[in-house]
Amino acid sequence: MPYVTEDNLTDVVMERWKDIPDPRLRRIMQSLIRHLHGFVRDIEPTQAEWAAAIDWLTRTGKLCSEKRQEFVLASDVLGVSMLVDTINHRRPSAATPNTVEGPFHVPNAPAMADGGNMAQGAPGIPCFVTGKVHGLDGEPIAGAVLDLWQTDGEGLYEDQRDVKGPWMRGLYRTQADGSYVIRTVAPIAYTIPMDGTVGELMERTDISHMRPAHIHFAISAPGYHGLVTHLFQRGDEYIENDVVYAVKEPLIVDFVKRPPGKAPSGEMMATPFYEVKYDFVLAKRVEALAAAE
Ligand SMILES: [Fe+2]
Repeated sequence: MPYVTEDNLTDVVMERWKDIPDPRLRRIMQSLIRHLHGFVRDIEPTQAEWAAAIDWLTRTGKLCSEKRQEFVLASDVLGVSMLVDTINHRRPSAATPNTVEGPFHVPNAPAMADGGNMAQGAPGIPCFVTGKVHGLDGEPIAGAVLDLWQTDGEGLYEDQRDVKGPWMRGLYRTQADGSYVIRTVAPIAYTIPMDGTVGELMERTDISHMRPAHIHFAISAPGYHGLVTHLFQRGDEYIENDVVYAVKEPLIVDFVKRPPGKAPSGEMMATPFYEVKYDFVLAKRVEALAAAE
């Protein structure tokens, strides 16, 4: 084995880390070492800078708990979460695009009737989301499950509210013709948590730490590739610079303001409300697999 020099060190390490029986792990570690060494050679950190980096990672780990995942947040703001999501959800271009799930999904949302209100008691402007779930050939998908979660009209998720029981989430099912009607309140833009190590880093940049107003959807139907996505409000001031890079053009929708009167659910509204229309397009599992190749 050659003694190490600045020039040969990367090669020496790469040679050592060839001894991994699992070919996938070997490929991952070889690429990691090559890129990490390249990064270090590029920036040539001082000892103090390297110690600061280790300290930042250490403090990031210590912030993580069952309720909080600061490493995921770091992955989000660096665009890595969306990159991994995009790589893993290559679909036919006509299908509704996927986005990251994010940290606020809570399993087992309450089942709602078609047109039911998942924002009972929540502050915000009433908002009706209607449309259909269909396949790539236009076939309606009956019985598709739409699992929704979002902020209330003050920008807070269930996890951030001191409430018992479900808050701003619900499970809807499409009708025989693939249609659905959801009653909620309009979400608003919100900031990512800024009181941790990611916030500390963001404060040293001019990068926005806001997410534009959005509603999260997880949609599933037998035989179809599951879809996790958002709908974003067109015109939101943060639509161009979502801090987690989740905005995709087909997911931007109009929140049309309607005067008091008959709502899409059939009920009479005494106050103005928003109406959002959106059709979700799911790929069959076989179609999604073909697009991924
Ligand atoms: Fe969100």
